Amino acid sequence: MERTLSIIKPDGVSRGLIGEVIKRFEENDIKIVAMKMVHLSQADAEKFYAVHKERPFFGSLTEFMTSGPIVPMILEGDNVIEKNRTLMGATNFKEAAEGTIRRDFATDIEKNIVHGSDAPETAAVEIGFFFNQFEINDR
Ligand code: CMP
Repeated sequence: MERTLSIIKPDGVSRGLIGEVIKRFEENDIKIVAMKMVHLSQADAEKFYAVHKERPFFGSLTEFMTSGPIVPMILEGDNVIEKNRTLMGATNFKEAAEGTIRRDFATDIEKNIVHGSDAPETAAVEIGFFFNQFEINDR
């Protein structure tokens, strides 16, 4: 059994797509074991996306991620990291497969509705960034 961090980004929340994203997880037998709504500070966003700090889009990305509330969730299931990435589609929505969340709803490479961890190591760090052990419903 694997876990991953999913985030519904500010564009997903403000456009009323929380239910749509969650529906796709539930329809695909992905279990949500933790969920909250938070509004990141600039410092929090810079910490979360620290791996991208040298990239040209870092300033814009952190500004966008602090522009409104987001919904981080812990997803659980067999092979859930890969499964979630398949449901999300490619980072660039123009390259995302039909029927994926980003293909259906993203409006540009930054405003792409959802984030998902890309590997077990990053999933563990990203889960720990948003949740403590008491917030994870694993019974
Ligand atoms: P995410 O999975 O949250 O991880 C980093 C984010 O940076 C990515 O999704 C995109 O939303 C955003 N981003 C903005 N510009 C780019 C770019 N040129 N290449 C990759 N990611 C980008």
